[in-house]
Amino acid sequence: MQTTMPTLAELDITSEAIYDNRGYPWAEWDRMRAEAPVYWYQRPGYEPFWSLTRYEDVAWVARNPELFSCRERVAIETPDEVESWETERERRGQVYGHRPDHAPGLGFMDAPMHRQLRQVMYPCFTPKALAEQEARLAGLARTYVDDFVALLDRDGTADVAHQLSARLPLAAIFDLLGVPEQDWDQLFKLHQATAAAFHKDFAHADGADPMATFLKAMMDLDAYMSELVRKRMADGGGTGTDMLSRLAAACVDDEPLAFHDISYQLFNLLQAGNGTTRNAIAGGIKVLLENPDQLRLLVDDPGLLDGAVDEILRWTSVAVVMSRTATRDTEIGGQLIRRGDTVATWFPAANRDPEVFPDPYRFDITRSPNRHFAFGGYGEHRCIGANLAKLELRVMFRALLPLLPELALAGDSKMLILRLLMAEYVQLPVRRVRS
Ligand code: HEM
Repeated sequence: MQTTMPTLAELDITSEAIYDNRGYPWAEWDRMRAEAPVYWYQRPGYEPFWSLTRYEDVAWVARNPELFSCRERVAIETPDEVESWETERERRGQVYGHRPDHAPGLGFMDAPMHRQLRQVMYPCFTPKALAEQEARLAGLARTYVDDFVALLDRDGTADVAHQLSARLPLAAIFDLLGVPEQDWDQLFKLHQATAAAFHKDFAHADGADPMATFLKAMMDLDAYMSELVRKRMADGGGTGTDMLSRLAAACVDDEPLAFHDISYQLFNLLQAGNGTTRNAIAGGIKVLLENPDQLRLLVDDPGLLDGAVDEILRWTSVAVVMSRTATRDTEIGGQLIRRGDTVATWFPAANRDPEVFPDPYRFDITRSPNRHFAFGGYGEHRCIGANLAKLELRVMFRALLPLLPELALAGDSKMLILRLLMAEYVQLPVRRVRS
């Protein structure tokens, strides 16, 4: 039977069902990159936007923040989401006295406030600062892998998504914030319960009412974090160099950060740094098990680990799309972009651009150069936690190296998409084939 190729206007890269059922729409992105790399995407259910799939164009947007603002929106949104965002902005104005242009978190800010706040937070993410965290995170990674091995020994199979990859990223953020270690387990449970609300498969896992569970966990988490912030603000940040102390002592726009601004940054870090890293770890385990030649290469030469981490990040590209708003009329790839238009940059599509990555669908841990866009297009909004995420992947895969050759995927894995922002593994079972 002959099938006709869909027209560009029929290509669908926004239906969550597509991602949930067959993963990323690679063929559609390839087609757009080849035929219409800067494409006005207009479909029912979403606000129209320019869709950018070419590496070079994604880089251009990232590197010209004065032309492409973050303040309006950073995600592709449905009309309902646009409306609820407007309402939230008004609410923040009324409750906190924010100006309409006052953005709550780094990702939604433009210069100059963005640069000021980033300068406050970035010292916690430098390689030097992270070197102090490395030994602690490596120890934790070994413990989590040992616990996972115990589960495998007990049950024969275990689930990477629920029982392994979720632990280190949260611990790393608690460590960064200076949360006392005895509270981590309790916070881990609360955070898992809040994550549960975001997707039906998580939400119904234990049969509890998802909304009630979510609200209770959210309130408990908020109460804990608020107390932490209050204490740290009371001593003006003290002499601490952890993130919370820095935020408590900081001035942005000539004013000390308010309580709600600091709290927001904490939640923002939990949101931005947790799921992303968790899913990169899960996706990395999956791709290594699917490519035994690459796994063997790595096991035989652990010196390839840094390259393997970058290739895992390129391959998994767990952050899917970010958008910006054009601040004035401009041009990308010969297309006129009008002031106010939304421009969406698809990171996984850029990471498979054959102009930049030869044989882009080959998983190759020796790929060099590998300037992928898993953390964004190298502009001033590039992921502030990139060094930490890489460190986590490094210590995790180092701890996993002796185990991975003894594992095999066991049954179907399941990856969902959360608001087109991020890939989320909800099921990744493995079994031990050799002990
Ligand atoms: C594999 C893990 C991660 C991936 C794939 C990832 C990806 C991204 C991407 C694509 C962006 C947007 C870049 C842009 O707009 O150009 C971003 C921003 C951000 N990320 Fe990450 N991220 C990861 C881990 C982390 C971690 C561990 C943290 C912190 C604990 C973090 C905190 C942030 C923050 C605060 C921003 C906003 C930065 C700004 O706008 O200046 N991320 N991340």
